[in-house]
Formats: sequence, C-alpha cells, structure tokens
Amino acid sequence: MAGPTRIEISRAGTADLDSVLGILDEATIGLLEHGIPTVWKPGGFSRQTFLEQIQRGEVYLAFVDKATVGTFILQWSDVQFWGEHPPDAGYVHKLAIKPAYSGRGIGVEMLKWAETAARNSGKKFLRLNCLAADRKIRDYYEKAGFIHVDDVVEPRGTASLYEKPI
Ligand SMILES: CC(C)(COP(=O)(O)OP(=O)(O)OC[C@H]1O[C@@H](n2cnc3c(N)ncnc32)[C@H](O)[C@@H]1OP(=O)(O)O)[C@@H](O)C(=O)NCCC(=O)NCCS
Repeated sequence: MAGPTRIEISRAGTADLDSVLGILDEATIGLLEHGIPTVWKPGGFSRQTFLEQIQRGEVYLAFVDKATVGTFILQWSDVQFWGEHPPDAGYVHKLAIKPAYSGRGIGVEMLKWAETAARNSGKKFLRLNCLAADRKIRDYYEKAGFIHVDDVVEPRGTASLYEKPI
C-alpha cells in the first residue's frame, strides 16, 4: 500500500450538518453490512445534538482532494464516560469515514491530527471509548498507541476506555 493519504481537516460549520450526519450514516451502514457490532443506527444521530456540538466548535471534517471523507468530535471533557477529571485531555467521539475511503489509514491520520490539536491546547492525553466486546476496533486503537484504562457499564453495553499520552 502507498504511504498515508494526505488529508486536510477543518472545523465543521452549521452548513456542514448534513455532510457530518451523512458520513456517520454511511459508516454505520458499512458496519452493519459487515456484521460488525455497533450501537450506532443509520438515521439515529440527533440533528439537534450535532448542531449544538458544531456550534460549540467540537465537530471536524476530513477531506481528501477536497472531497469530504471523514468526521470526528474533539471535546475537552467527557463526564458521561470518564466522570469528572482535571482538564488534562481531549476526548474523541464519532470517529468515522465513508466506507469508500477505508483501508487508507485515514482514521489513524484523523487521530494523529486530534492528538496534535489536544497537545497544542496543553492537554496530556487523548482519550476515547469503544465497545468492550469489539475486539477488532480495540486492536485498531491499541495499534494506534492507545492504552486500555478501564471499562464502564453503559445502558447500551460495556464501554472500554482508552487513552494515549501525547
Ligand atoms: C474506525 C474508522 C474511522 C477507521 O478508518 P481507517 O483508518 O480507514 O481503517 P479501516 O476503515 O480500514 O478499518 C480497519 C479495519 O477495522 C474494521 N473496523 C472498522 N470499524 C470497526 C468497528 N467499529 N468494529 C470492528 N471493526 C471495525 C474495518 O472493517 C477494517 O477491517 P479490515 O482491515 O479487515 O478490512 C473506520 O473504519 C470507520 O468509519 N468505521 C465505522 C465507524 C466506527 O466504528 N467508528 C469507531 C467507533 S468506536
């Protein structure tokens, strides 16, 4: 495979709402088509919640050659999964790419970008969570340098918490 694909990242604006939700829907359909366990549902992402997150400046889009290919959220606290913490970390959520762009290392490039953004904001860790029962995505994050910290029982299933010193 060729080297990492060159990506560009920019903060999503409110006009990008459909684009963000479209990527998440496509990624979810891709998971379901491959029989991969997920708590995500196509059409199940709340427009209002995403609009508010976009307005807080927490939602990002990734581009390859000007085409929109991926999205993720980067926020500075995550009480739901991590509880109260000193403001020492960035928290990534909803990391997703369009299935047509998978297998090119774009997800890892997005994570690296989030690491740099968090470090530049004075953070010491990048944190994320995933389904504890999903060994494959856990291996993916572990290969990307994330360390398993804890598991939390959530209504939708047990989540594994990961962090990477940055
Ligand atoms: C996670 C993601 C951004 C990584 O993108 P990427 O760096 O280009 O990596 P790939 O898409 O090639 O995925 C790597 C492998 O993990 C698999 N995979 C992707 N998401 C997975 C998931 N949630 N659970 C288990 N396996 C998953 C892919 O099928 C692929 O398997 P393969 O190598 O056997 O083909 C992308 O796969 C994606 O959008 N997945 C769907 C959304 C998702 O699950 N996000 C993470 C939620 S915790």
